[in-house]
Amino acid sequence: MTPELRGAGIIGIGSFAPQKVLTNFDLERIVDTTDEWIVTRSGIRERHVVEEGTAASDLALEASRRALESASIAPEEIDLVICATITGDMPFPATSCLIQDGIGATNAAAFDLQAGCSGWVYALATASQFVRLGTYNHALIVGVDILTSVTDWTDRSTCVLFGDAAGATVIGPTAPGTGVLSTCLGADGSGGELLKIDAGGSRLPASEETVRNRQHYIKMEGREVFKFAVRIMDEASIKALDMCGLKPADVDLFVPHQANIRIIEAAAKRLNFPPEKVFVNVQNYGNTSAASIPLALDEAYRMGKIKEGDIVAVVGFGAGLTWAASVLKWTLPGM
Ligand code: ACO
Repeated sequence: MTPELRGAGIIGIGSFAPQKVLTNFDLERIVDTTDEWIVTRSGIRERHVVEEGTAASDLALEASRRALESASIAPEEIDLVICATITGDMPFPATSCLIQDGIGATNAAAFDLQAGCSGWVYALATASQFVRLGTYNHALIVGVDILTSVTDWTDRSTCVLFGDAAGATVIGPTAPGTGVLSTCLGADGSGGELLKIDAGGSRLPASEETVRNRQHYIKMEGREVFKFAVRIMDEASIKALDMCGLKPADVDLFVPHQANIRIIEAAAKRLNFPPEKVFVNVQNYGNTSAASIPLALDEAYRMGKIKEGDIVAVVGFGAGLTWAASVLKWTLPGM
């Protein structure tokens, strides 16, 4: 007989965005665009961007320290560090190892996970299994991206969308029936062409030619990604809710990936969530990729929008293509 497993949930949370802000009006001076176009098509008004020389691990370390403080645990108590990113400091070593060293998590295993903007939810699914089974007690999972480092500042269809940030959470044991109630992960590699960076991997190593051809920057078929996103946000959320026997009406707060207000509103409408149950901060940060959901969760929590025991649904989609949804019974005390 299987003994009742303990729960695994968020026991500490923190985030960090660089200080420098780039507004839509700043972008009007860089590419042929307008504040009006960006706000109407995406909902974004400004985004935080790093200064030259700042790497993913720098943002991740700030967010991780805040998460550890929120969890009131020492770095030595962390058993596992997972960093979800597509813009790590370098191809290797893994950014998770740099974080592990930087915070002094001397007893932790570490690896990176690549699932685009769905990365943090993939990491949540992975870490919560380890903790629920008792293999590990504490996992630090970080979503971080510096998409501005791979943004083509001559491409107006992408450069207006992205920002930089990190969000970190400590996953630890919780009472049975609390914490992560379900996770629904998915991928469709046949859509990989819709959102990609062509060069810099083993298929097309960096060369003078790849640099000249601007092949180290994000290329995106915006309209196709948009259609996919609207459909999958709602499907994945319903599946994750079904898996734990809940319905959209049971959700206290919906925290979707912050890519575009129109995608969020379309998904919320399909799921019948009233606006007050949907958390949105895309206007201030743009799309921060793997950082988007933990950053939004941290902000919502600190604003008092999530209380202990609340049902929180998160859902993301991104490069791969990938998607990931999770339902949590919130385990941190109210702010
Ligand atoms: N300013 C002014 N005009 C622009 C801009 C701009 N910044 N960008 C594009 N346009 C023009 C286009 O050239 C096009 O003109 P045309 O009709 O003459 O050809 C027109 O605006 C409409 O372009 P669309 O691409 O149809 O605009 P759409 O309404 O689809 O919005 C957007 C574009 C915002 C990119 C949208 O498609 C979108 O959000 N897609 C999803 C992107 C996303 O969420 N990606 C997430 C994954 S990121 C990750 O995983 C790393």
